[in-house]
Amino acid sequence: MRMNCTLVINPKGGSGKTTVTTSLASYFAARSVPVTVMDYDPQGSSLNWLRLREPFRNKIYAANAAPQKGNRLRGIEMHVPPDTRQLIIDAPAGASGLLLQEMLARADCIVIPVAPSAIDIHATANFIRDLLLTGRIRMRNIRLGVVANKVRNSMPTYEPLERFLKSLNLPLLSRLRDSDVYLQAVESGLGLFEMDHAMTESEREQFRPVAEWAEGPQSELIGVDRKIVQLPGRARLFAGAGSN
Ligand SMILES: Nc1ncnc2c1ncn2[C@@H]1O[C@H](COP(=O)(O)OP(=O)(O)OP(=O)(O)O)[C@@H](O)[C@H]1O
Ligand SMILES: [Mg+2]
Repeated sequence: MRMNCTLVINPKGGSGKTTVTTSLASYFAARSVPVTVMDYDPQGSSLNWLRLREPFRNKIYAANAAPQKGNRLRGIEMHVPPDTRQLIIDAPAGASGLLLQEMLARADCIVIPVAPSAIDIHATANFIRDLLLTGRIRMRNIRLGVVANKVRNSMPTYEPLERFLKSLNLPLLSRLRDSDVYLQAVESGLGLFEMDHAMTESEREQFRPVAEWAEGPQSELIGVDRKIVQLPGRARLFAGAGSN
């Protein structure tokens, strides 16, 4: 069985990359799927979260891909255990150049969390346009999906984001509400899918479509004849995504 790699990325700081990474990791860990979190961010937030995990919890492997200082060997630190089935990459804010290319080279799908503010959407839209223009996305048929994060109850939908995604035929995978549960998860080394069920029910329901979409080929086998069908997030990549 091959490994599936999900890159969680957005150039904007604080959009929810680490939150989505750790929630995804906990989804797979809770189902005993061998999972590795690869942190490209020198801040090391995902790896700090993993250090807080109690030893009896289902294992989530750690790989440190942040550029190393001194004589630490990056190649060794970023080792991915061979039994890994799901690799999740937590990208740093503002990633570009070779580091971005390296992350894209690993990715089977890309999840882009975005906070629903005009400033964040503008920066994210530019980033997505640039991404679609890179040949790699089209050549390797990498899927792209967006998650609205930190959605307030007072503003459950955000028209400009939805219009932009529609124009590129990209899926809005889910809306994750602004919730204290995510803050509690960060502090405990746990993710949504390992916390008290009653306390996290609505957050889990909101997150599940993201995890199922990211999960990869097994969730693409649809219908009685087990024919592989195209999931949303790919269509426009073939049909001249960079045209606008
Ligand atoms: N849906 C949410 N509800 C409440 N708080 C959230 C939510 N998503 C993220 N946060 C909080 O917002 C802050 C930023 O989130 P996070 O660290 O996931 O963003 P990031 O994109 O990884 O940031 P950076 O660019 O610095 O790496 C964190 O304190 C996190 O706990
Ligand atoms: Mg982060």
